[in-house]
Amino acid sequence: MHAATQTKPAILFVCLGNICRSPMAEGAMRDAARKAGLDIIVASAGTANYHIGNAPDPRAIATARAHGVDIGGLIGRQLSENDFFTFTHIIALDKANIAGIKARAPRQGKAQVELLLDVLNHRKGEAVPDPYYGDDADFEACWNTIAEAVDALVARFVASERNAA
Ligand code: 4NP
Repeated sequence: MHAATQTKPAILFVCLGNICRSPMAEGAMRDAARKAGLDIIVASAGTANYHIGNAPDPRAIATARAHGVDIGGLIGRQLSENDFFTFTHIIALDKANIAGIKARAPRQGKAQVELLLDVLNHRKGEAVPDPYYGDDADFEACWNTIAEAVDALVARFVASERNAA
């Protein structure tokens, strides 16, 4: 395929509340893509409506900041039917999120729905545990897992761009 006719990858990370895991994934992915020179769209959403309009959890903001990434300006929103047409990939942080995503999926939805840790051969099928009821160490572990996974995702998109060129 000619590069000009390719669809630019648009990745939506989805967790439950969109204040802990998926905003960290959005920030980590945007940072990793920028460093790799990969031109993609990145966003995040929650399956639930609890935190619409809210900033990420202060612990998520602090953890991202400690890793050089600013997610303080992100705003919580809920997954919408439109997302299944405007994003090429909807990436869930855990399997309950996959169920929540499928429950909201319109019949004609085009986005490919995946589990984030399926990108790591040694962690296929695993969840990124919800740190919301945990402590700072849980947020740090969460960030590190997400960072490893988004690095692998970026490598996958870079490889597929190269193959399509
Ligand atoms: P997240 O974490 O899905 O990683 O954003 C949660 C945040 C808030 C709630 C649950 C999970 N909550 O129940 O309010």
